[in-house]
Amino acid sequence: MSMRSEPAQRVNKCENKDELFSSEVRAEIDQWIAKYPDEWRQSACMAALQVVQDDNGGSLTPELMDKVADYLDMPPMSVYEVATFYSMYEHKPVGRHKICLCTNVSCMINGSDNIYEHLKGRLGVNGFGEVTADGKFSLKEVECLGACGGAPMMQIGRTYYENLTPDLVDQILDGLE
Ligand code: FES
Repeated sequence: MSMRSEPAQRVNKCENKDELFSSEVRAEIDQWIAKYPDEWRQSACMAALQVVQDDNGGSLTPELMDKVADYLDMPPMSVYEVATFYSMYEHKPVGRHKICLCTNVSCMINGSDNIYEHLKGRLGVNGFGEVTADGKFSLKEVECLGACGGAPMMQIGRTYYENLTPDLVDQILDGLE
């Protein structure tokens, strides 16, 4: 009986990590790497992807994910797995303000459908996954963000907005540059 071994996952050993990202991006990622033992720099993968995504205007590219793999001495596939599993990572361009509207049970029961309809009209988009013509906003559907007590809710950037009404949505969007 022949035994077939699994192909070894390719791990990049990038010698010159300084060339991968700007000094600012490297400094931010290094802060996260420093939180873990030396041999566990891969633990900074999620944070590194977020830092790189923010630096790239809100979305990732295959090239950037490869660079994260190089920087953290990880197989590229492992980085792709993380970057495609979690909803906070984007793989196509987003608006300057990414509106993440929760449509999960608590938010749905409390009127997320109305908020969705209002947002579509206000933004002039046909639905989730779209960016406004001016590039200012994009609209994304997300699962429960753990703020069910404030349903219906949305997240923009790092901020949660809860107990939404159409008027409140307008106020919030009016306040964003
Ligand atoms: S269901 Fe919307 S935050 Fe939990």
